[in-house]
Amino acid sequence: MNLFRKKSLDAFEADMKKSELKRVLGKWSLTAIGIGAIIGGGIFVLTGTGAYYHAGPALALSFIIAGIACVFAALCYSEFASMIPVEGSAYAYAYGTIGEIFAWIIGWGLILEYAMGSMTVAVSWSGYFNKLIGLFGMHLPDYLTQDPGSYQGVGFSMNLPATIIVLLVTALLVKGTKEAAKANNVIVVLKVSAVLFVIIVGAFCINTANWHPFIPEATTIVDHGVSRDAYGWGGIISGAAAIFFAYVGFDAVSTQAGEAINPKKDVPFAIVASLLVCTVLYILVSLILTGMMNYTDFNPVGKYPTAIKAPVAMAFEIAGMPWAVFIITVAATVGLISVLMVMMLGQSRIFLGMSKDGLIPKFFSEIHPVNKTPYKNSIFLGVIIAGVAGFTPISTLADMTSFGTLFAFTMVCIAVWLLRIREPNLQRNFKVPALPVIAVCGILINTFLMYKLEHKAQLLSLGWLVIGLFIYFIYSQRNSKLNEPSA
Ligand code: ALA
Repeated sequence: MNLFRKKSLDAFEADMKKSELKRVLGKWSLTAIGIGAIIGGGIFVLTGTGAYYHAGPALALSFIIAGIACVFAALCYSEFASMIPVEGSAYAYAYGTIGEIFAWIIGWGLILEYAMGSMTVAVSWSGYFNKLIGLFGMHLPDYLTQDPGSYQGVGFSMNLPATIIVLLVTALLVKGTKEAAKANNVIVVLKVSAVLFVIIVGAFCINTANWHPFIPEATTIVDHGVSRDAYGWGGIISGAAAIFFAYVGFDAVSTQAGEAINPKKDVPFAIVASLLVCTVLYILVSLILTGMMNYTDFNPVGKYPTAIKAPVAMAFEIAGMPWAVFIITVAATVGLISVLMVMMLGQSRIFLGMSKDGLIPKFFSEIHPVNKTPYKNSIFLGVIIAGVAGFTPISTLADMTSFGTLFAFTMVCIAVWLLRIREPNLQRNFKVPALPVIAVCGILINTFLMYKLEHKAQLLSLGWLVIGLFIYFIYSQRNSKLNEPSA
C-alpha cells in the first residue's frame, strides 16, 4: 500500500485537456467570485463578539492578523494555481506534490470549509431574511423558521427559508457556471457598495473617545459561568481566530480553475486581489464600528442585548438611522446568497476532482450533456445541505468551517514549500518571494489560530478527519485511478 503515491503533473495536464467544463471565467469574474465568497454574514455578525469578548477597539488588529494569515496562504495557493490549474483546489495541489493520503485528508477537510460553510451561511441567510420581511411587517410562524432543536413549541418545525434558498442556488448551479457567475457579479457590486456605505456614513458618527484605550488591559470576562481571557494582546490574537470565518472563501477561486479562461495567470491574480480588497474593507469596518459604539456596549446582558448578534445594524440604530439598518439588512440578505453560491460551487468542483481520481464514486463526475455542469453532484450536495440546514441547530459549525479552512491553508503552505525543494525547475508562472519565510509564517500562524478556536469545534473537526481516514482505507485507496497500470 503506497499512501504517498502522487498524481503526475502530466496527468493533471491531460485531465485539463479532457475537461468538459466550459472555460468562461475571466480575471474580474474570478475576482468577483473571491469577493462574493468572502464578504458575507461574518463581517456583519462576528464583529460584536470580536470586540466585546476579545479585542475591544483593537478589533482592527485582529482583522489585520487574520488577514496576514490569509495572505501567506493566498500567496502559496497562487503559486500552486499557476502550476496545477485544475478544479479541486488544495486537494489537487496536494495530490500532485505530497501524496494521496494528504490529498485525501485535505479534500476531506475542505468539505468542512465548503459544505459546512454552506449550511452555516444558509442558516444565517434565513435569519436575515426573516429580519428583512419583518421590516415590511411580515412574519413567518416560528415552526417554519426554527430547526426542531431550537423550536420551543410542540409538533413539527423546520428552518424552511434555509432549505429553500439552498435548493434555489442548487438549481442555478445545475443550469450553468456562466449564469451563476453573472448573478454573482451583480450581488458583489451590491454588497461592496453596502460595506462602503457603512464605512463612509459611519465615519460621520464616530466618537473617538470610544477608541480609548485602544488596547484595553487584559482581564477575564465571565460568560454563562465560563471565564474567558479577554483584551490585551492575547485578546487580539484570540479575536483573530473568532472573526476568521469572515475571511473564509477567497480560496474558492482556486476551485474554479477548470472554468477559467486563463487559469495560470488569472487565478493567482484573483486570489490575491479579492483577499486584499476584503482585508482593507474589514479593517475599516471594524474601526468604524468600535468608533461608533463603545466595545462594552456589545455586552449581551447590557444596555443593548441584541447588539452582539447584529452589531453593525445596532450601531446605526443607536446613531438614529433606521433606514441604514434597512440597507444593511438588504445587503446582508442578498450578499449571503453569493457566499452560498460560491461555497456550493467550490464543494461540487472539489468532489468533481476527487471523483475523477477515483477516490469517491464516479457519480460525482458525471457532466450534464447540455449545461456542462456536474449536475448529479450539485443536486446530491444541494439536497444534503438543504436538509441539514433545515433541521439542525447550527452553533459550532462556523468554527468548524474555520478549522477546515485553516487546516487546508497550513497544508498548502507545507506542500508548496516541499514542491519547491523537490522540483525546483518546474515552470511556475507565479513564485512566492522568500518562500521559506512565508511558508513557515503561514504554517505557524494558521496552526496557532486553529488552536485558538472553540474546543468543541476542534474535537468535532478532528473526529471528522478520523472518519475521513477510515473511508480512505475502506474505499478510496482501493478505487484510486492510480491503481490502474497506465496511471
Ligand atoms: N466569509 C463568509 C462570511 O463571512 C463565509 O459569510
